Amino acid sequence: MFGKRDSAAAPKAKAPPPAEAKVVEFRPEPKPAAPPAAAAAKAPEPPPTAPEAPREVDERLGQIQVAVFNALLESIDLNELGKLPAKQQREELADVISEIVNIKNFVLSGAEQQRLVDDICNDILGLGPLEPLVARDDIADIMVNGPNKVYIETKGRIELTPIRFRDGAQLMNICQRIVSAVGRRVDESSPICDARLADGSRVNVIAPPLAIDGAALTIRKFKKEKLTLEKLVEFGSITPPCAEALKIIGHCRINVLISGGTGSGKTTLLNCLTRYIETGERVITCEDAAELQLQQPHVVRLETRPPNLEGKGQVTMRDLVRNCLRMRPERIIVGEVRGPEAFDLLQAMNTGHDGSMGTVHANNPREAVSRVENMIAMGGFNLPSSTVREQIAAAVQVIVQAQRLRDGSRKITHVTEVLGMEGEVVTLQDLFIYEVEGEDANGKLIGRLKWTGLRPKFWERARYFGKERALAAALEQANV
Ligand SMILES: Nc1ncnc2c1ncn2[C@@H]1O[C@H](COP(=O)(O)OP(=O)(O)OP(=O)(O)O)[C@@H](O)[C@H]1O
Ligand SMILES: [Mg+2]
Repeated sequence: MFGKRDSAAAPKAKAPPPAEAKVVEFRPEPKPAAPPAAAAAKAPEPPPTAPEAPREVDERLGQIQVAVFNALLESIDLNELGKLPAKQQREELADVISEIVNIKNFVLSGAEQQRLVDDICNDILGLGPLEPLVARDDIADIMVNGPNKVYIETKGRIELTPIRFRDGAQLMNICQRIVSAVGRRVDESSPICDARLADGSRVNVIAPPLAIDGAALTIRKFKKEKLTLEKLVEFGSITPPCAEALKIIGHCRINVLISGGTGSGKTTLLNCLTRYIETGERVITCEDAAELQLQQPHVVRLETRPPNLEGKGQVTMRDLVRNCLRMRPERIIVGEVRGPEAFDLLQAMNTGHDGSMGTVHANNPREAVSRVENMIAMGGFNLPSSTVREQIAAAVQVIVQAQRLRDGSRKITHVTEVLGMEGEVVTLQDLFIYEVEGEDANGKLIGRLKWTGLRPKFWERARYFGKERALAAALEQANV
């Protein structure tokens, strides 16, 4: 599976890594390594701070890796190895590697041998140099811009890591391995691909020639521990009274749109709200890549499918949402509304599937309404815009806005109700608004999520569900 393709793509010269970078040095091609002098000629400039000693150690280790890797390829059958469970594959490889090290009399410290095993295993079985990043749970996104630039997002901040790929071919190999695990292919003829890692992380690959500086790989890390509204309160993303109001909104079967920019926390918030759905309700979720984790027992999870290599077999979000309606759902949850499925979701919301929810990309609640209107206009339904707006006004009850602020923090900035229509305009009423009040010495924004003092339109509904007192108490606390 691996050897052949890699051999074809093997580099002609080896580039020494920057000293602090954790780089897998061996080359999969069973040929001698390029002489260090030639490698140096083609190498990118090492960072000026690179200390000398580690580089020598790295070069020695790199040469040992090449030798061990080549010997390994001759002694094991990768296809057979692939049939073993993942843990056993690593154990097998570790055994063979230590045998090769002994036979070839390489002198390695315990730590060096462990690193050798890790690097070779990561390159053969895993995600190569990305493996340590994927293992970390504090990373939200991994963004690879070609072989020499790997960025991560932690705590809302994007930073460059010292991690490098050996070359574009190694990066493409890893992209290929990721997407082939879900039966897809990425290459020059089909350079865009969505996939998922084994742990559920969402992956997008766009390869050359579309990505000019080498394949761009974006991974939205799947958080094992999903955030809850309590956690969001702890992080300061939302105040306890607003969190309480959202719990009531989730519970009382109110139709909700969650709006926000890229990576602002929409899916996270949607997941939080779904926790307050009653256990008995039949919920159907439709997503492009299954990210939601509903706790309820009665959930059907659906996922769209891109066309296959012959361009056939595509199942769109619209297909899923329409099919949902024939599955006797009580609530429909659409991971991301981005096209004509908006129309079907509105229909569902308007036809007794109360408590349906979805997310949209928009910068404020007003824009969310026009985004939905545009999606429907572009879906070719041939409806007058006033009709579409009426549909939106009748279907959507609450819009919750998530935002990543300029200091990197993620906040709930609006909880807004859709009141109805006034002439041609959809009328909105803000219940909670986040107001920035200043900035502290560290550049952190200071602000408050305030209740506007208006009585929610869903008050009656809260009463119907026995949540009136809880709502009144939450609002009373809101501006204390
Ligand atoms: N309030 C928050 N505080 C801290 N981290 C958060 C918060 N909300 C979300 N995150 C983290 O931010 C990352 C992005 O969140 P999420 O996937 O929900 O964003 P999104 O708006 O759905 O993104 P996309 O537009 O790519 O679908 C995740 O790693 C998530 O755990
Ligand atoms: Mg999302």
